[in-house]
Amino acid sequence: LSSYPSYIDLLPSIQTCNITNLPENYFLKYYLYHALTWPQLSFVAVVRPKGGYKAGGGKAGGDLSGQYPKVVGYVLAKMEEEPTDGMQHGHITSLSVMRTHRRLGIAERLMRMSQRAMAESHRANYVSLHVRVSNTAALRLYRDTLGFEVEKIESKYYADGEDAYAMRLNLQTMW
Ligand code: ACO
Repeated sequence: LSSYPSYIDLLPSIQTCNITNLPENYFLKYYLYHALTWPQLSFVAVVRPKGGYKAGGGKAGGDLSGQYPKVVGYVLAKMEEEPTDGMQHGHITSLSVMRTHRRLGIAERLMRMSQRAMAESHRANYVSLHVRVSNTAALRLYRDTLGFEVEKIESKYYADGEDAYAMRLNLQTMW
Protein backbone atom coordinates (compact mmCIF):
# COMPACT_ATOMS: atom_id res chain seq x y z
CA LEU A 1 0.00 0.00 0.00
CA SER A 2 1.07 3.57 -0.57
CA SER A 3 1.03 5.96 2.39
CA TYR A 4 -2.53 6.97 1.43
CA PRO A 5 -4.84 5.60 2.67
CA SER A 6 -3.19 4.60 5.94
CA TYR A 7 -3.79 1.48 7.98
CA ILE A 8 -5.92 3.57 10.33
CA ASP A 9 -8.18 4.65 7.44
CA LEU A 10 -8.75 0.96 6.77
CA LEU A 11 -9.76 -0.05 10.30
CA PRO A 12 -13.54 0.02 9.60
CA SER A 13 -13.00 -2.21 6.56
CA ILE A 14 -10.83 -4.59 8.62
CA GLN A 15 -13.59 -4.73 11.22
CA THR A 16 -16.15 -5.51 8.50
CA CYS A 17 -13.96 -8.36 7.23
CA ASN A 18 -13.72 -9.74 10.78
CA ILE A 19 -17.46 -9.52 11.46
CA THR A 20 -18.22 -11.19 8.13
CA ASN A 21 -15.92 -14.14 8.75
CA LEU A 22 -15.67 -14.83 12.47
CA PRO A 23 -17.88 -14.84 15.59
CA GLU A 24 -15.03 -13.41 17.68
CA ASN A 25 -15.38 -9.65 17.22
CA TYR A 26 -13.71 -6.62 18.78
CA PHE A 27 -14.35 -2.93 19.42
CA LEU A 28 -12.70 -0.57 16.94
CA LYS A 29 -10.44 0.71 19.74
CA TYR A 30 -8.91 -2.76 20.09
CA TYR A 31 -7.82 -2.69 16.42
CA LEU A 32 -6.48 0.80 17.02
CA TYR A 33 -4.57 -0.40 20.09
CA HIS A 34 -2.88 -3.08 17.99
CA ALA A 35 -2.02 -0.57 15.25
CA LEU A 36 -0.58 1.97 17.68
CA THR A 37 1.28 -0.46 19.95
CA TRP A 38 2.68 -2.98 17.44
CA PRO A 39 2.49 -1.18 14.06
CA GLN A 40 4.88 -3.68 12.42
CA LEU A 41 2.85 -6.82 13.12
CA SER A 42 -0.58 -6.48 11.46
CA PHE A 43 -1.18 -6.65 7.71
CA VAL A 44 -4.04 -6.38 5.25
CA ALA A 45 -4.80 -7.63 1.76
CA VAL A 46 -6.81 -5.09 -0.23
CA VAL A 47 -8.61 -4.66 -3.52
CA ARG A 48 -8.00 -1.16 -4.84
CA PRO A 49 -10.96 1.01 -5.93
CA LYS A 50 -11.65 0.94 -9.68
CA GLY A 51 -9.88 3.85 -11.36
CA GLY A 52 -7.50 4.38 -8.41
CA TYR A 53 -7.60 7.12 -5.80
CA LYS A 54 -8.88 10.59 -6.68
CA ALA A 55 -6.64 13.52 -5.78
CA GLY A 56 -7.70 15.32 -2.62
CA GLY A 57 -9.75 12.44 -1.27
CA GLY A 58 -13.12 13.72 -2.48
CA LYS A 59 -15.25 16.69 -1.44
CA ALA A 60 -15.30 17.75 2.21
CA GLY A 61 -18.16 15.99 3.95
CA GLY A 62 -18.79 13.87 0.87
CA ASP A 63 -18.93 10.09 0.61
CA LEU A 64 -15.34 8.84 0.74
CA SER A 65 -16.19 5.13 0.76
CA GLY A 66 -15.30 4.74 -2.93
CA GLN A 67 -11.88 6.21 -2.19
CA TYR A 68 -10.71 3.44 0.09
CA PRO A 69 -9.58 0.00 -0.94
CA LYS A 70 -11.66 -2.89 0.34
CA VAL A 71 -9.98 -5.15 2.85
CA VAL A 72 -10.34 -8.78 1.73
CA GLY A 73 -8.00 -10.24 4.35
CA TYR A 74 -6.18 -9.21 7.49
CA VAL A 75 -3.99 -10.54 10.24
CA LEU A 76 -4.29 -8.77 13.57
CA ALA A 77 -1.25 -9.53 15.69
CA LYS A 78 0.45 -8.42 18.87
CA MET A 79 3.23 -9.19 21.31
CA GLU A 80 2.09 -10.90 24.51
CA GLU A 81 2.28 -8.16 27.12
CA GLU A 82 2.70 -10.32 30.23
CA PRO A 83 3.97 -13.72 29.08
CA THR A 84 3.35 -16.26 31.85
CA ASP A 85 6.43 -18.25 30.79
CA GLY A 86 8.64 -15.14 30.74
CA MET A 87 9.37 -15.72 27.04
CA GLN A 88 8.96 -12.78 24.69
CA HIS A 89 6.48 -14.00 22.07
CA GLY A 90 3.94 -12.90 19.52
CA HIS A 91 0.26 -13.78 19.35
CA ILE A 92 -2.18 -13.91 16.45
CA THR A 93 -5.32 -12.18 17.71
CA SER A 94 -7.34 -12.75 14.54
CA LEU A 95 -6.97 -13.81 10.91
CA SER A 96 -9.55 -14.00 8.17
CA VAL A 97 -9.97 -13.78 4.41
CA MET A 98 -13.20 -13.00 2.55
CA ARG A 99 -14.82 -16.04 0.90
CA THR A 100 -14.42 -14.43 -2.54
CA HIS A 101 -10.63 -14.40 -2.09
CA ARG A 102 -9.88 -17.71 -0.38
CA ARG A 103 -7.40 -20.38 -1.53
CA LEU A 104 -5.21 -17.78 -3.22
CA GLY A 105 -2.46 -17.94 -0.62
CA ILE A 106 -3.50 -14.68 1.07
CA ALA A 107 -3.71 -16.04 4.64
CA GLU A 108 -0.38 -17.85 4.30
CA ARG A 109 1.28 -14.65 3.06
CA LEU A 110 -0.26 -12.50 5.82
CA MET A 111 0.87 -14.99 8.47
CA ARG A 112 4.42 -15.22 7.12
CA MET A 113 4.73 -11.42 7.00
CA SER A 114 3.55 -11.10 10.60
CA GLN A 115 5.81 -13.93 11.81
CA ARG A 116 8.85 -12.31 10.16
CA ALA A 117 8.04 -8.93 11.73
CA MET A 118 7.65 -10.53 15.18
CA ALA A 119 11.09 -12.11 14.86
CA GLU A 120 12.87 -9.13 13.32
CA SER A 121 11.24 -6.24 15.20
CA HIS A 122 10.69 -7.88 18.59
CA ARG A 123 12.98 -10.94 18.71
CA ALA A 124 9.93 -13.07 19.43
CA ASN A 125 10.86 -16.60 20.56
CA TYR A 126 7.64 -18.01 19.18
CA VAL A 127 4.17 -17.08 17.97
CA SER A 128 1.02 -18.47 19.58
CA LEU A 129 -2.65 -18.60 18.61
CA HIS A 130 -5.97 -20.26 19.43
CA VAL A 131 -8.16 -22.01 16.90
CA ARG A 132 -11.47 -23.85 17.19
CA VAL A 133 -11.03 -27.63 17.18
CA SER A 134 -13.66 -27.83 14.41
CA ASN A 135 -11.90 -25.30 12.13
CA THR A 136 -10.29 -27.71 9.68
CA ALA A 137 -9.33 -25.05 7.10
CA ALA A 138 -7.43 -22.92 9.62
CA LEU A 139 -5.88 -26.02 11.22
CA ARG A 140 -4.56 -27.14 7.85
CA LEU A 141 -3.09 -23.70 7.29
CA TYR A 142 -1.44 -23.47 10.70
CA ARG A 143 -0.22 -27.05 11.11
CA ASP A 144 0.47 -28.31 7.58
CA THR A 145 1.38 -25.12 5.69
CA LEU A 146 3.03 -23.03 8.40
CA GLY A 147 4.35 -25.72 10.76
CA PHE A 148 2.58 -24.79 14.00
CA GLU A 149 2.26 -27.49 16.67
CA VAL A 150 -0.57 -28.10 19.11
CA GLU A 151 0.62 -27.16 22.59
CA LYS A 152 -2.59 -28.09 24.46
CA ILE A 153 -6.38 -28.13 24.25
CA GLU A 154 -8.12 -25.35 26.17
CA SER A 155 -11.52 -26.62 27.25
CA LYS A 156 -14.53 -24.36 26.52
CA TYR A 157 -12.23 -21.54 25.40
CA TYR A 158 -14.87 -19.95 23.18
CA ALA A 159 -18.04 -18.17 24.34
CA ASP A 160 -20.25 -20.90 22.79
CA GLY A 161 -18.41 -23.63 24.73
CA GLU A 162 -16.20 -24.99 21.94
CA ASP A 163 -12.66 -26.11 22.82
CA ALA A 164 -9.57 -24.45 21.32
CA TYR A 165 -6.24 -25.81 20.24
CA ALA A 166 -3.51 -23.60 21.66
CA MET A 167 -0.84 -23.70 18.95
CA ARG A 168 2.64 -22.28 18.62
CA LEU A 169 5.48 -21.94 16.14
CA ASN A 170 9.14 -21.37 17.02
CA LEU A 171 10.55 -18.16 15.49
CA GLN A 172 14.11 -18.24 16.82
CA THR A 173 15.39 -19.55 13.49
CA MET A 174 14.28 -16.24 11.90
CA TRP A 175 16.37 -13.97 14.14
N1 ACO B 1 -9.59 -26.63 3.41
C1 ACO B 1 -8.40 -27.28 3.59
N2 ACO B 1 -7.20 -26.64 3.66
C2 ACO B 1 -7.22 -25.30 3.58
C3 ACO B 1 -8.41 -24.55 3.42
C4 ACO B 1 -9.63 -25.29 3.32
N3 ACO B 1 -10.81 -24.68 3.15
N4 ACO B 1 -8.11 -23.24 3.37
C5 ACO B 1 -6.77 -23.15 3.50
N5 ACO B 1 -6.23 -24.38 3.63
C6 ACO B 1 -4.80 -24.73 3.81
C7 ACO B 1 -4.27 -25.38 2.53
O1 ACO B 1 -3.19 -26.22 2.90
C8 ACO B 1 -3.79 -24.18 1.76
O2 ACO B 1 -2.82 -24.48 0.79
P1 ACO B 1 -3.31 -24.92 -0.70
O3 ACO B 1 -4.36 -23.93 -1.14
O4 ACO B 1 -2.04 -24.87 -1.49
O5 ACO B 1 -3.87 -26.31 -0.53
C9 ACO B 1 -3.15 -23.34 2.85
O6 ACO B 1 -4.01 -23.53 3.99
C10 ACO B 1 -3.01 -21.87 2.54
O7 ACO B 1 -4.29 -21.38 2.21
P2 ACO B 1 -4.58 -19.83 1.93
O8 ACO B 1 -5.05 -19.68 0.52
O9 ACO B 1 -3.40 -19.03 2.33
O10 ACO B 1 -5.79 -19.58 2.95
P3 ACO B 1 -6.97 -18.53 2.75
O11 ACO B 1 -6.43 -17.24 2.26
O12 ACO B 1 -8.04 -19.14 1.97
O13 ACO B 1 -7.45 -18.32 4.27
C11 ACO B 1 -8.55 -18.97 6.32
C12 ACO B 1 -7.60 -19.41 5.17
C13 ACO B 1 -7.98 -17.71 6.97
C14 ACO B 1 -8.61 -20.08 7.36
C15 ACO B 1 -9.93 -18.68 5.68
O14 ACO B 1 -10.52 -19.89 5.30
C16 ACO B 1 -10.90 -17.94 6.61
O15 ACO B 1 -10.89 -16.69 6.66
N6 ACO B 1 -11.74 -18.70 7.34
C17 ACO B 1 -12.74 -18.10 8.24
C18 ACO B 1 -12.08 -17.35 9.39
C19 ACO B 1 -11.15 -18.25 10.18
O16 ACO B 1 -11.41 -19.41 10.42
N7 ACO B 1 -10.02 -17.65 10.63
C20 ACO B 1 -9.03 -18.32 11.49
C21 ACO B 1 -9.51 -18.31 12.90
S1 ACO B 1 -8.21 -18.67 14.09
C22 ACO B 1 -7.50 -17.14 14.43
O17 ACO B 1 -8.02 -16.13 14.01
C23 ACO B 1 -6.22 -17.10 15.24
